[in-house]
Amino acid sequence: MTGRFITVEGGEGAGKTTQLAFLRESLERVGHRVLLTREPGGTPLGEAIRTLLLGHRHDGMALATETLLMFAARAEHLERVIRPALAAGCWVLCDRFTDATYAYQGGGRGLPAARIAVLEDWVQGSLRPDWTLLFDLPIEVGLARAGRRGAADRFEREDWAFFERVRATYLERAGREPDRYRVVDADRPMATVRAEVETLLAGWLERG
Ligand code: TMP
Repeated sequence: MTGRFITVEGGEGAGKTTQLAFLRESLERVGHRVLLTREPGGTPLGEAIRTLLLGHRHDGMALATETLLMFAARAEHLERVIRPALAAGCWVLCDRFTDATYAYQGGGRGLPAARIAVLEDWVQGSLRPDWTLLFDLPIEVGLARAGRRGAADRFEREDWAFFERVRATYLERAGREPDRYRVVDADRPMATVRAEVETLLAGWLERG
């Protein structure tokens, strides 16, 4: 039996990492084998690409370069980690995936969605996430939380308007695919968010 592919998305400081650990626990509790991974990254080459993308050595990187590097890391991740795990019956929990490319390179930086769709079809074939949780919160709250974590990466240095466009793109995509997406208000205490995630997960698992 093949596993299911779950992705988690959201702006900076949305609490994805904490909630991913809870999600993993919940899935393991009901007997699933879980692989927790992230993008960009998830393989040695992908993590090297992540360093190029998030660091400041290449601050003026062209948008095409940035997008192609995201998909280069994704191709490696799919080939070496995600597809083999799913084929082995493992459930894959991924911290960001192609929705982030639509939100950041598309909405944030203005790359037409049709360009991203071409790469998505090429690199992924028909593979799409089975379920996606979007942790949504106001920009000011997210940036304040992210700021407390230390030096800003290449994306965290973007301006307010950029993050507004990212957030709007995520919400718009979630609205268009209500079956796949669940939007969670992340501007609440961690335990409240966790409880809602548990309920949403239980509902989705019941649907089979
Ligand atoms: P994070 O996973 O630690 O939140 O950081 C990854 C950063 O990379 C985040 O700012 C979003 C950005 N990103 C993109 O711009 N496009 C993508 O396709 C992905 C996966 C991430």
